[in-house]
Amino acid sequence: MPNGSPAASRKLTEIERAARLHQLGELAAGLAHEINQPLAAITYTLSGALRRARRGELNNAQMLDVLQAAIAHTHRASEIVTRVRGLVTRQAPEKTRVCINRVVREMLELSRLGKGERGVRPVRLLDELAPDLPPVLGDKVQLEQVMLNLLANAIHAARQTGQREGRVLVRTRGDRQAVELSVWDNGPGLVPAQRQRMFEPFFTTKPDGVGLGLGLAICQTIVEDHGGRIRAEPAPEGGLLLSLRLPVAEDGGPR
Ligand SMILES: Nc1ncnc2c1ncn2[C@@H]1O[C@H](COP(=O)(O)OP(=O)(O)OP(=O)(O)O)[C@@H](O)[C@H]1O
Ligand SMILES: [Mg+2]
Repeated sequence: MPNGSPAASRKLTEIERAARLHQLGELAAGLAHEINQPLAAITYTLSGALRRARRGELNNAQMLDVLQAAIAHTHRASEIVTRVRGLVTRQAPEKTRVCINRVVREMLELSRLGKGERGVRPVRLLDELAPDLPPVLGDKVQLEQVMLNLLANAIHAARQTGQREGRVLVRTRGDRQAVELSVWDNGPGLVPAQRQRMFEPFFTTKPDGVGLGLGLAICQTIVEDHGGRIRAEPAPEGGLLLSLRLPVAEDGGPR
């Protein structure tokens, strides 16, 4: 079957369709699994309370605790729905000229605010930002979301370093065509089989309730909607290196 023949292109469409259906199936299965957990928690919490109330064993304060717990589970369920919606209803980016260094600085600042949380290992956040980085044409809020997701993952990984100090380094570089942003951490990294799957929706190695496995899938969608690419590779010093390239804004684009 020669390349480019009608039969070849029909075959390709069939393969693409099968691949899309497979992805859709995985997305639906992941969503069902994730939503089922808060639903099960709500059922468990409320039916336990109902049993105790029937026996007259539930006072007002306990009732309030039960209601609060149930509401927290419903919030979790709606957070899952909101994030999945963000992934599948690809909003067209609202593009303006965006300075990636600024996005990095602001999101590092935000991440530093969360660093003082009690009971978690501190992680040192470093940056090496290229001066005179050309702007990219992009949706600032979406690009901030990418940066925050990458930082959250890197910080989480860098906390698992055992005795060593956890470190995260964000770098930017640019040339006439593209801006490159990379996030490195000195965490445990990922074995190749997991690295291949890390951008799949709902792929997570984090415990239930900690990770949904949507952060990187969302990052990939946003980066691709901006005409860019994102990839992950093992870092030579250990840990993982996530890097993305975005095309620079052409002169004359919206300011
Ligand atoms: N810097 C990293 N080092 C090691 N593993 C990573 C790193 N970043 C991502 N991963 C792996 O990729 C998986 C998927 O990441 P992703 O951000 O999509 O989901 P998550 O962090 O598990 O959950 P969510 O981002 O939805 O809260 C993670 O569970 C983790 O196994
Ligand atoms: Mg994540």
